Amino acid sequence: MPASPQKVALVTGAARGIGLATAKKFLAEGWRVALLDIEGELQARAAAALNDPDNTLAIACDVSDAAAVGAATAAVMNRFGRLDALVNNAGVAVFAPVLETSNADWNRIMAVNLSGPFLCTKAAVPLMRELGGGAIVNITSISAVRASTLRSAYGTSKAGLAHLTKQLAVELASLNIRVNAVAPGPIDTAMAKEVHTREIRADYHDAIPLNRYGLEEELAEAIYFLCSGSASYITGQILAVDGGFDAAGIGLPTLRGERRNG
Ligand SMILES: NC(=O)c1ccc[n+]([C@@H]2O[C@H](COP(=O)([O-])OP(=O)(O)OC[C@H]3O[C@@H](n4cnc5c(N)ncnc54)[C@H](O)[C@@H]3O)[C@@H](O)[C@H]2O)c1
Repeated sequence: MPASPQKVALVTGAARGIGLATAKKFLAEGWRVALLDIEGELQARAAAALNDPDNTLAIACDVSDAAAVGAATAAVMNRFGRLDALVNNAGVAVFAPVLETSNADWNRIMAVNLSGPFLCTKAAVPLMRELGGGAIVNITSISAVRASTLRSAYGTSKAGLAHLTKQLAVELASLNIRVNAVAPGPIDTAMAKEVHTREIRADYHDAIPLNRYGLEEELAEAIYFLCSGSASYITGQILAVDGGFDAAGIGLPTLRGERRNG
């Protein structure tokens, strides 16, 4: 029997954080991976550090630039000849009160977090259609599910992406392309380590039933699962990977604390 061809994933925002962990997971599972990021040099260094040049391709690209996205998917086809999975992970977060959210920030957040996945999907779908199917995973956020302060732009962009996920799942099912989303809670990325004060970390721990931040690798596992054949009957779903943050609703941190300590 001929060996089945190596599958190919395109991961956006893959120079660091959740995107890079996801690229590593695909490689570990035997896939080839195109790593795309607006920070071209950082992306090239991250890809080089993976030390797997036969199976990796680093691409500098702004996901909000339709022409650049078209060139990026052409480069993937040129190099790997197929595309099985797209992970729309690139995102920007600006946390500010609504009156201090500039129009430029609002437009940029929508352009990267919402239009980016739309453009990447439009570029990827014809390639997946040629293969007879594929999988798309959009990285939303727990901010798409529950509102909180300072996130009128970010949370709205991610809620839009959550709905786009369902729209695409319904429409692309006839092409055997599954579309799902992963909604991370607070994840211990380098960025979170930098910007979350000790007090913020303690608050999050109190509000999260599992009482800790998530790890990039835990996100990568869920993203990979949704792209893999193991999820072949799952489409249109938004999987919160959040330690129970969403399920807890208003939560009663004091009671949880008593239970832990009792
Ligand atoms: N870290 C968290 O706690 C958390 C929580 C919820 C959701 N998320 C979401 O997960 C995704 C990844 O987050 P992360 O924490 O790894 O962030 P990160 O900032 O570490 O990584 C994001 C990557 O996207 C790249 N990027 C930004 N704009 C881009 C553009 N226009 N085109 C291409 N690449 C671009 C950045 O250069 C960066 O390498 C984001 O969509 C984020 O909104 C993260």
